[in-house]
Amino acid sequence: MDLPNNANVNADLNDAVTTSKPSKIRFEYEDDEEVETLEEVAAESSNVEEDSSMYEAGDTLTAGDEKTSADYYFDSYSHFGKFGNCTWKYSSFYLLYLCKVGFLILVTSSMQEMLKDVVRTKTYQNVIYKNPFLFKDKIVLDVGAGTGILSLFCAKAGAKHVYAVECSSMAHTAQEIVKLNGYSNVITVLKGKIEEIELPVAQVDVIISEWMGYFLVYENMLDTVLYARDKWLVPNGLVLPDKASLYLTAIEDADYKEDKIEFWNNVYGFDMSCIRKQSIAEPLVDTVEQNQIVTNCQLLKTMDISKMASVDASFTAPFKLVAERDDYIHALVAYFDVSFTKCHKLMGFSTGPKSRATHWKQTVLYLEEVLSICQGEAVTGTMTVAPNKKNPRDVDITLKYSINGRHCQASKTQYYRMR
Ligand SMILES: C[S@@+](CC[C@H](N)C(=O)[O-])C[C@H]1O[C@@H](n2cnc3c(N)ncnc32)[C@H](O)[C@@H]1O
Repeated sequence: MDLPNNANVNADLNDAVTTSKPSKIRFEYEDDEEVETLEEVAAESSNVEEDSSMYEAGDTLTAGDEKTSADYYFDSYSHFGKFGNCTWKYSSFYLLYLCKVGFLILVTSSMQEMLKDVVRTKTYQNVIYKNPFLFKDKIVLDVGAGTGILSLFCAKAGAKHVYAVECSSMAHTAQEIVKLNGYSNVITVLKGKIEEIELPVAQVDVIISEWMGYFLVYENMLDTVLYARDKWLVPNGLVLPDKASLYLTAIEDADYKEDKIEFWNNVYGFDMSCIRKQSIAEPLVDTVEQNQIVTNCQLLKTMDISKMASVDASFTAPFKLVAERDDYIHALVAYFDVSFTKCHKLMGFSTGPKSRATHWKQTVLYLEEVLSICQGEAVTGTMTVAPNKKNPRDVDITLKYSINGRHCQASKTQYYRMR
């Protein structure tokens, strides 16, 4: 199920759609008026479902292939010119442990980026405010509460009590925010890792979390939600969101591939193609323009968060991408959607290139060689997704693909790592 366009979410998205690749998706938006009451929110037409590295002495050299996300936290230049687009979402929280003051700005800007992602935040708000029957008099667990925004939504919608669990120092700020807004009697903020804290109650009725990473599963917070579900959720309790799906499509992207990847083949007359190799193995997080899409979109995997096991997030899925026009394919693009199927009406959002841009953007996997494809021909293959064995927060992606067309015959396996 590919959810409809997110374009009708009403709010200001000025900072949420910044990208190092300008002139990507553009939306017309309206200013969002401050929400005062549940009724006002319910009356809004914002329901997305309806439209829906120079080494210093002492440094240890880590070979390119052996780098994990941990290396990149301290070595941001290692992303070969593509770093500007990507992995800040949770990284900033870990940096905070190392240098509280210096990186406090990173944490708050990361939080602000997420909160200003109105597709994301407004969907959660609408799910909660438009379905108070899911929350009224219920015990709610907010997994990874951040500023506490989801806890506040739930409290306002009538939850009996909300436990807001946050492992970073942001927990102290969340506590302050809860007090500032008069919800100290309803929301209890607990600082610690879900996997280590003790809840004051044996069970909860609802688990709510915004756990999704780039490429859906990058940084692996899904496991934390599944841990909480198995430990505290009452039988037939709710996990929100309860479904997440990963999709694949193919794009033409000659200019960017030439500028950022083929560049390494000849740098002032020298062959630096060893860097090209590493660069291509790093998926790029960025927005893709609709007119770059050459094929259909293929559903790879749907995860049922209410039932799945942690191992289900590792999978191999077949795909068949059929060309909708004669063109060249430079990359495959992955994106996800999430849905809240227990709402009165199905709600959710898509991070696809045809929907309103989110801070997750899309994940672009560049191909070693350019494929020329004619309308009706297909690129077929499999994608294997699994956490990296050394650092489970990284994601290993294996792409096997082949094309047997009039102008192009190819068969290849490529390896990527999100880190
Ligand atoms: C994507 S943010 C979401 C914040 C907030 N819920 C929101 O929607 O704006 C995820 C949060 O989960 C926290 N987190 C990650 N792993 C955690 C864990 N194992 N236990 C508790 N909190 C965790 C991070 O520090 C971060 O603040």
